[in-house]
Amino acid sequence: MPESAEETRAPDVRRTLVTGGAGFVGSHLIEVLLERGDHVTVIDNLSTGRQSNLGAGHARLRFIESTVTRALDAFGPGERFDEIYHLAAAVGVQLILEDPIGSIETNVEQTSAVLRFARTHGRDGGPASILLTSSSEVYGKPASDVFCEDDDVVYGPTTALRWSYAQTKAIDEYLALAHHARCGVPAVVVRLFNTVGPRQVGSYGMVLPRFVESALRGEPLKVFGDGEQSRCFCDVRDVVRVLPKLLGSQACAGRVFNVGSDESISIRALAEAVIATLGSTSTVSMVPYGDAYPGGFEDLRHRRPSLERVRSAVGFEPKWNLTDTIQDLANEIRQQLVKEESSQ
Ligand SMILES: NC(=O)c1ccc[n+]([C@@H]2O[C@H](COP(=O)([O-])OP(=O)(O)OC[C@H]3O[C@@H](n4cnc5c(N)ncnc54)[C@H](O)[C@@H]3O)[C@@H](O)[C@H]2O)c1
Repeated sequence: MPESAEETRAPDVRRTLVTGGAGFVGSHLIEVLLERGDHVTVIDNLSTGRQSNLGAGHARLRFIESTVTRALDAFGPGERFDEIYHLAAAVGVQLILEDPIGSIETNVEQTSAVLRFARTHGRDGGPASILLTSSSEVYGKPASDVFCEDDDVVYGPTTALRWSYAQTKAIDEYLALAHHARCGVPAVVVRLFNTVGPRQVGSYGMVLPRFVESALRGEPLKVFGDGEQSRCFCDVRDVVRVLPKLLGSQACAGRVFNVGSDESISIRALAEAVIATLGSTSTVSMVPYGDAYPGGFEDLRHRRPSLERVRSAVGFEPKWNLTDTIQDLANEIRQQLVKEESSQ
């Protein structure tokens, strides 16, 4: 593990820890943090993240390849942070279906460890501010199509594994809020809705990169169910700009915020938008849920956040439109496909 940069750091420089920083959202967040002048330490075990997401390196960036728990245990007493962004997680319902025990344990154990660490690893040995990325999945299957932070939540039975992702994230939220209430840790919980953009990979079932790759290959875009289920997609570059604002505001500590877009699009319309934007010859292919998920799967019809709270707390107006996001994602995937072809 690299040595602490403590001795060489000017006293007024913000020290920031990002877990899961080599992942999709984390790597974009790090760009924002470096841009504002932070010294950034990243812990990531590269289970789904990629070191290449962090670029060619940066004088103020330290990368530790490790699980969160192992890295925190190995830290010396001088490791102090002003802010912690905890993003490391087994992400998404598909991953939890493939590796339920590992995913459930990761989501609860790593969060518990990082919150315990935050209690005493702030700048002066007091608590460090910490932001947790939770998920819109936490809402379960609500009665309303627009999700507000204080809504009741309803999950399916524990025999339906897909709800365990939501439950692990809900436990993480309870832990964070309890650390705020009982230990004075300034903790902010952010429920991310569908976040999209460059560096997102389709291998874990994420819909937009899957569609873009199929469109570039000229293959059918597989839409599950009747395609009328809708989601709101927010560009990751909008999402990561608001996270430091939420963590930097004292008034946000101990609270939960939705972050995402509130413009709905059906999954079928999304597939058609990808084809049109990329001028692809692909078609849309409808796949019944039973074929896509032979073990059974309960999908939500609609998912849209209320953004009232985040707007009134720190202001939030997403700037990227879906067409530009699709183009940027396609440019990146196109380069990967060319690389793959030339290495064959
Ligand atoms: N992308 C979305 O649409 C979305 C939606 C809701 C919530 N979120 C949340 O945002 C966060 C980031 O998600 P993402 O989309 O960037 O996914 P990602 O898989 O790209 O990022 C997660 C990162 O955590 C790392 N990681 C996993 N387990 C680890 C461990 N035990 N120790 C250290 N590192 C570990 C992975 O290698 C990866 O780099 C997650 O907490 C996720 O639940 C994302």
